This record gives sequence, C-alpha cells and structure tokens, in this order.
Amino acid sequence: MSTDNKPLIAVTGATSKQGRSVAATLLQSQRFRVRAFTRRKDSPEALRLEKLGAEIAVVPLELGRKKELVAAFKGADGAFLMTPPILPPETSEAPLGRQLADAAVEAGVGHIVFSTLENVDTITGGTKYAPHFTDKARVADYIRRLPISHSFIMLAFFYTNLLEYYAPRMEGDTLLLPIYLPEDFAAPFVDPLTATGPVVLEIFSNPERYNGKTLPIVGDIISPREMVETFQRVTGLKAEYRNAFTRDGLLAYFPEFAANESFVRELLGMVEYAVEYGYFGKEHDLEWSRRLNPGTLNWEQFLRTTGWRGDKRSFAG
Ligand SMILES: NC(=O)c1ccc[n+]([C@@H]2O[C@H](COP(=O)([O-])OP(=O)(O)OC[C@H]3O[C@@H](n4cnc5c(N)ncnc54)[C@H](OP(=O)(O)O)[C@@H]3O)[C@@H](O)[C@H]2O)c1
Repeated sequence: MSTDNKPLIAVTGATSKQGRSVAATLLQSQRFRVRAFTRRKDSPEALRLEKLGAEIAVVPLELGRKKELVAAFKGADGAFLMTPPILPPETSEAPLGRQLADAAVEAGVGHIVFSTLENVDTITGGTKYAPHFTDKARVADYIRRLPISHSFIMLAFFYTNLLEYYAPRMEGDTLLLPIYLPEDFAAPFVDPLTATGPVVLEIFSNPERYNGKTLPIVGDIISPREMVETFQRVTGLKAEYRNAFTRDGLLAYFPEFAANESFVRELLGMVEYAVEYGYFGKEHDLEWSRRLNPGTLNWEQFLRTTGWRGDKRSFAG
C-alpha cells in the first residue's frame, strides 16, 4: 500500500512521554505519516517508533540548531512542538520554543501544535516563580503572532511524576507516597503516555476547527488523599500520604533536590501557584479531552493499566 499521499507530521521530542504518544497515535490511525525527531536513532524508543513506521530524523532540541530544524521540518504538513525538561537556572526554554516555531514557519509547515502551560508570571503578578510554565506561555504568545495556523495543548500534572520523580519509599509494611500537593487539594492530572496522542490526532485531523485554540488535556481531578486511597484499593498495599509540598517536606524526602536551589524554588512556586490560583485558567473546559476521548485514563484506570505498585520507573527513551 502506498503511504506517500498521507499528510506528514513532524514530531519533536518524539521519544518523550508526550511525543511517543503523539507519534504512535498518528501512525496507528493510518491517516498520517510521522517524522520523529530524536537525538539518538538507535535508542529503544526510536527503534520502536521506526518499527511502527516513523521516519527518524536526528536533531536535538537545543539552541543554535535552526538550520538543522528547518531541514528536518521540510515537507511536513504539520508539526508537534514541545520543549524538553529544562531546569532553572538554565533559561533556554523560551528561545528554544521560539526557534522551533520559527524553523517550522521557514520550512513551510502547514499547522503547528505547541505544548504550552499558563503564564504564571502574569497570573500571579510576578509573585510565583515557575519558569517552565511562563516560558511556554511566552512561546505561545510568540506563535500567535507568526504567519502560521496553530493550536496549543496544555497538559495537566502527569501521573507519571509520582513514578518517575517523586517515587514512594517503604517504611516497615507501609509505602509512603511523598506528593507535591496538600493532602486535600484536588488538582488536574493526566497520563501523558496515552492522553496526548488522541488530542493531537484530533487537531491535525481538523486543523481549521482548532486554529488559535488552546486545549487542556485532563484525565482526573483528584486530591492526594483520594490518590492514596485509590492506590491502596487497587494494589492492596498499605500506603500513606506524605507532604512534599513545603520546602521542609520536599527536602526531607528528596534531599538531592537541595543541590539546585532554583529548582526547589520552581517546584515550590509551581505548587503554590496551582493551589492559590488553580493549575488551569478558569476559561478552559476541563472536560473537553475526556469527552473527545472517553478512554482517557483516570487515576484508578492508570493504576490498573500500568500495574504500578510504588516502584520507581524511568520513561527515558
Ligand atoms: N511533569 C508534568 O507534570 C508536566 C505537566 C505538563 C507539562 N510538562 C512539560 O512536559 C515537558 C516534558 O515532556 P515529557 O515529560 O513528555 O518529556 P520527557 O519524557 O522528559 O522526554 C524529553 C525528550 O526530549 C528529547 N530531547 C531532545 N533534545 C533534548 C535535549 N537537548 N535535552 C533533553 N531532552 C531532549 C529526549 O529525546 P531523545 O533522547 O530521543 O532526543 C527526551 O525523550 C516539559 O517541558 C514539562 O515542563 C510536564
């Protein structure tokens, strides 16, 4: 079967949690071709994407790569753009996002989808420090002024944070779950590995409908207390919540974070922002992604699907 006439979508960060969901969903839809951007074409995740039918393009997401990016975007009808985790005090996220967008425009890409977050600086009048939110919002503002059709997605907190970055620990017969939110604060969460792709597929299938739109992706709105209760019910393990949302709580469980004070400030600033102002702006319809894709996993479904029992997991490509 010839695949040449299917629209081609370039996926940056294709081995990331968001990116692999996007690449795999587009390919499995059989409606798109995918060019997957990665730094390592022989990584297990890049090989998996290649096996699914992706064309692999080796290009890192870093500043000073515009020429390579333009070449890699050439011929693409659409591009999924994301910025990888960049820890403060490093400040390259906004310029990197702008470079990705500029390269897509220069290459003549038809529609871009950028994974953004809220402008915490503007919303809080500069009182909360969360550059990995604000920098993405600044990139989105920049994209709005570019001569290109565009949409934004905005993912809730990842469930995978608890598996990857805030892993629980065993004390006696009890698993302690240090969570970066107050015990009774219900926050939006999502599984980036399964929820990102269906939304991006919908956007690239109907780019005119979503031009200029910002679409939140949410799997559950749930408090740490409910998360721990659900975890106990699903796994049968004894588990307790522990506070990792204050500086003392965070550093008691993750003393290694103290090596980077800007990172600690950012984690605390992000959580204070989410608690005091809400993670998403009030204008967003937080049910949208679950209506679009009723298969979007809530926390309980995420636990059942992944079989997670408190072990630390890595999602590195
Ligand atoms: N955690 C949350 O709760 C949450 C919520 C909303 C948004 N976000 C945002 O999501 C983004 C991260 O997405 P993710 O978790 O899906 O990514 P991820 O799984 O951490 O993967 C990042 C990917 O970026 C690629 N990459 C390319 N160039 C890179 C470079 N110079 N440095 C580091 N990585 C590079 C790597 O792929 P190769 O090795 O194949 O090149 C890697 O697979 C961050 O911007 C974060 O702010 C996070």
